[in-house]
Amino acid sequence: MTIPRSTKLTIVGAGSVGTSLAYAALIRGSAREVVLYDIATAKVDAEVLDLAHGTPFTGSSRITGGSDINLVADSDVIVITAGAKQEPGQTRLQLAEVNVGILEKMLPPMVALAPNAVFILVTNPCDVLTAVAERITNLPPGRIFSSGTVLDSSRLRWIVAEAAAVAPQSVHALIIGEHGDTEFPLWSSATIGQTPLSQWTDGAKGLLFPRERLETITHDVVHAAYKVIAGKGATNYAIGLSGARIVEAVLQNERSILPVSSVLHGYRGIDGVALSVPSVVGAGGVQRVLDTHLDEREAEQLQHSAETLAASIALFS
Ligand code: LAC
Repeated sequence: MTIPRSTKLTIVGAGSVGTSLAYAALIRGSAREVVLYDIATAKVDAEVLDLAHGTPFTGSSRITGGSDINLVADSDVIVITAGAKQEPGQTRLQLAEVNVGILEKMLPPMVALAPNAVFILVTNPCDVLTAVAERITNLPPGRIFSSGTVLDSSRLRWIVAEAAAVAPQSVHALIIGEHGDTEFPLWSSATIGQTPLSQWTDGAKGLLFPRERLETITHDVVHAAYKVIAGKGATNYAIGLSGARIVEAVLQNERSILPVSSVLHGYRGIDGVALSVPSVVGAGGVQRVLDTHLDEREAEQLQHSAETLAASIALFS
């Protein structure tokens, strides 16, 4: 009997996002082997040790790591979290130049070491970096994508769930577009259980989500990262959990529909821009991008997001 090879997840970057993603992956059992790589030897060695010390309490995942890039070899999934992070008040797009430089150095040797890996970008601006990374690596579409608005959609689902006093898992709502200031909710298709959000009532109080409340929720989601960064300097737990969730969809060939960001070709007239739309995620990465019903306003917002990103991507083409 041949024992299937362990699934190998390598996380690049041992900062707060990378270590939170590693921690989430260990607890969720996202991959059998979790490797944490960073150029800062002392830091990554200490993070790996600290995480490893807890594995008697997690599942059967094992964590190793260090600062030798050869650790990346034969990874099934490589998640890139390394790079400059948003300072208070800074937009994600303002990080592009420095983080493109890091990718240009880092990606070619990693693709050589792990030619069959699926690459997931978390580093921001993740949409711009996805388009640049696809150009740098020449990987086929789908094999390199970003976490996109999976995290933003999670934020939206939590806010709606708290308001409606239901489990976030029962809120089916997505944020799509840029993982950034031009992202927007698909209110037209949002439901709680089988009930359209627009029809959800709160007993005698009537409709719980009138237009004004939807606008407030949208604002709170779009500005969520700024609020967390202002208070604690960075976001890490929710993006770490979002990343682990996406990794599982790939490694288990789930074919789950997630709003990840991959370079679009001929999608509602959008070409060469990476942004989040509902996508089938499984073995090999993004298997299909889904054309989703958008109302008139959502269609306009998608174009605005695409135009905003296209302007940034053009700076690095
Ligand atoms: C955030 C970062 C990951 O939205 O962009 O928290």
